[in-house]
Amino acid sequence: MEKATQYELQLARRMSRLGTETAFEVLNRARALERQGKSVIHLEIGEPDFDTPSNVVEAGIDALRKGWTHYGPSAGLPDLRQALAEYVSRTRGVKVTSDEVVVVPGGKPIIFFTILSLIDEGDEVIYPNPGFPIYESMINYVGGKAVPIPLREERDFAMDVDEMASLITDRTKLIILNSPQNPTGGVLQRGDIEQVAKAIGDRNILVLSDEIYSRLQFAGQPFSIMSVPGMQDRTVLLDGFSKTYAMTGWRIGYGVMRADLAAHITRLMTNSNSCTASFTQMAGIEALRGDQSAVDRMCAAFQQRSEAFVTGLNGIRGFSCRMPKGAFYVFPNITGTGRKSKALADALLEEAGVAALSGTAFGQFGEGYLRFSVANSIEKLHQALERIDRWTKQNL
Ligand SMILES: Cc1ncc(COP(=O)(O)O)c(C=O)c1O
Repeated sequence: MEKATQYELQLARRMSRLGTETAFEVLNRARALERQGKSVIHLEIGEPDFDTPSNVVEAGIDALRKGWTHYGPSAGLPDLRQALAEYVSRTRGVKVTSDEVVVVPGGKPIIFFTILSLIDEGDEVIYPNPGFPIYESMINYVGGKAVPIPLREERDFAMDVDEMASLITDRTKLIILNSPQNPTGGVLQRGDIEQVAKAIGDRNILVLSDEIYSRLQFAGQPFSIMSVPGMQDRTVLLDGFSKTYAMTGWRIGYGVMRADLAAHITRLMTNSNSCTASFTQMAGIEALRGDQSAVDRMCAAFQQRSEAFVTGLNGIRGFSCRMPKGAFYVFPNITGTGRKSKALADALLEEAGVAALSGTAFGQFGEGYLRFSVANSIEKLHQALERIDRWTKQNL
């Protein structure tokens, strides 16, 4: 309950333009149902259910014991920036130096800071829809014009590059790419990405390439627009540790960009967070340089669970689902149920005990879909399928 006050809350106008990430709201509602004694299977939140690999946990504990508990440089610890420069140089086939790397608390701040530092009122930003809701939220927040590029099921949720090209205008300042993609599990193939670069040509447009799921692509090698000749200094690469190493709660991610922009993003870090937690960064160095077998194991598990869940959903009345190509989300078409996405997500949570997200939580083009996170055990996923099946048989 809010306390009564005679003082009206005079919020800044821009706050009315700020969106949110529905996953956290649905999680709260699900938890409230659980407190009432109801059983809920959690397929709403986008985080690996695995523990952080033990070598990374040990490195974090060791760092705490050794006193890595103080402020560090705003752009990140030099050793981690160097390790990241080497990692990105190797994986994207470009030459990256540590002054082009900014370490931040999670992948999200790179979205926030990139948009805050580049977008003026009226500047246009092309972004995937359905897509990670923070893109649209931040574009609107700073007064930019959000220009959605619809992702369509018939293209396996890869963007239509010709359509994207037709959205570019003189006011376009930024194009956001995300592959593997949240919420659809779609992947942009190398040819698509090269076409995007071609469509941009020599225009002074930057690309925010959100590659936070790059290590969770099921087939083929991920390809970054940063690797396309001529695109490196027009790319802001976003990557991080949350999904790859099951480190969501440690809060660590990074951006790679031209050094002059990195200096401005660093100023935003100084003004907001000061720095990313020092012991977290020490654990990050171990994550990058240590044994990688946990990453491969998690990726294989997400693929196996996605396959099982998609197969199950395709046997349920009103659902039809494509196999995702990466990440840990399944995005079925639910138009056959005759229900709107939000209404169906609400009913499944309240009546069937399965927490999922409405496709519209990811933008207007998400209508007709639900997003399930398969970051849960195979037993729970089968149980969820049974509950959804039972619910559809009783209600549709
Ligand atoms: C596409 C995408 N980008 C960025 C993020 C942010 O990740 P982090 O938790 O590291 O801030 C997420 C998290 O769900 C995501 O799905």
